[in-house]
Amino acid sequence: MKNILVTGGCGFIGSNFIRNIIDKDIFIFNLDKLTYAGNPENLTDIEGRKEYKPLYKKDICDSDYVARVMDEYKIDTIVNFAAESHVDRSILGPEIFTTTNVLGTQKLLDVSKNYWTSLPEGYKGKRFLQISTDEVYGSLPKTGKFKETTPLSPNSPYSASKAAADMMVRAYFHTFGYPSIISRCSNNYGPYQFPEKLIPLMIWKAMNDQRLPIYGDGLNVRDWLHVNDHCSAIETILKKGKNGEVYNIGGNNEWPNIKVAKRILLELGKPEDLIMMVKDRPGHDRRYAMDAGKIRRELKWKPKYTFEKGLKDTIRWYLGHKDWLKNVINQEYLSYYDKNYNSK
Ligand code: NAD
Ligand code: DAU
Repeated sequence: MKNILVTGGCGFIGSNFIRNIIDKDIFIFNLDKLTYAGNPENLTDIEGRKEYKPLYKKDICDSDYVARVMDEYKIDTIVNFAAESHVDRSILGPEIFTTTNVLGTQKLLDVSKNYWTSLPEGYKGKRFLQISTDEVYGSLPKTGKFKETTPLSPNSPYSASKAAADMMVRAYFHTFGYPSIISRCSNNYGPYQFPEKLIPLMIWKAMNDQRLPIYGDGLNVRDWLHVNDHCSAIETILKKGKNGEVYNIGGNNEWPNIKVAKRILLELGKPEDLIMMVKDRPGHDRRYAMDAGKIRRELKWKPKYTFEKGLKDTIRWYLGHKDWLKNVINQEYLSYYDKNYNSK
């Protein structure tokens, strides 16, 4: 792995991934459209490093541009984080989810296939990793876990678009022998997460003594994993994973949303009556839980963070980054909750 194209590297997970691998003798090319979720400030500490090249305001759907990048920088590895990632937004406007998540992925596959097969060595030493999600499997009842063999059953426009992208990656492997792997991770939390997602939103609201909106009965369950653990799993898969395989990544760390909110309030010394139960998200998946046995057994990866430590560190990070928070919270976002989820 020498020249790695990271797409969506200015987002939450992508920026943490770049920070985690920057010192590892790799050249990183970060192609990011800089949507509302992409923030170059997430990487100011590594800007100017000779191993890092920002390719900002560029779209994965722009095949001509991606083809030039592949050729000019001799890209041998692609990690595709670029996506529209927020379920609530996919309910309000699904089209961009299809464009970026499905069409964008297919275009990346096609451009890289054409470039790699034009080289004398072909696919040798090449790899494409699709960063996917547990949400493609749908929703679980009170028991059971998602395995890599669980049939895909996505319920939101977001998860449907991610499932479609996964199917395209699979098809390229089977049809063209294209060297791809799919990883599917559970909910991430940690520094630099855009405060529309549950954990940073609850932290930000609590910091400002505002009400914390919890959807439905608050008993929907998510399996939380610290972003650094996700990043170490990605590195492991890039090094040791097998083409054509799917690897589930999870923290074995299930929490109902209401308990997460209460925990954050406790850590911040704020009262529980800040919690406000609001109208449920349409089509809200009840429970996610990952069986990550395959990556543990076959690639010897396991998470390092406990949720207690990870959450404390994350809260401390947001407390220390009030300016970052102010900068990313724009007017469009501020009106978003009020417009779309009125209190019961
Ligand atoms: P994010 O929304 O924070 O970041 C997405 C990034 O992609 C942004 O920098 C954005 O500017 C960029 N982007 C969007 N459209 C683009 C386009 N057309 N061309 C180039 N760049 C574009 O997302 P995230 O939470 O960091 O998630 C990253 C990936 O991981 C996504 O594919 C998501 O589906 C997946 N994932 C996320 C989680 C999670 O809990 N956040 C869990 C599992 C999988
Ligand atoms: O599971 C992995 C997925 O996790 C990723 O693929 C997605 O990109 C990521 O957005 C995330 O999806 P979720 O829908 O699970 O995350 P979100 O943070 O939006 O919501 C987590 C849970 O909290 C969910 O049950 C809805 C609930 N929720 C969320 C928000 C924003 C609330 O109760 N109130 C809120 O204000």
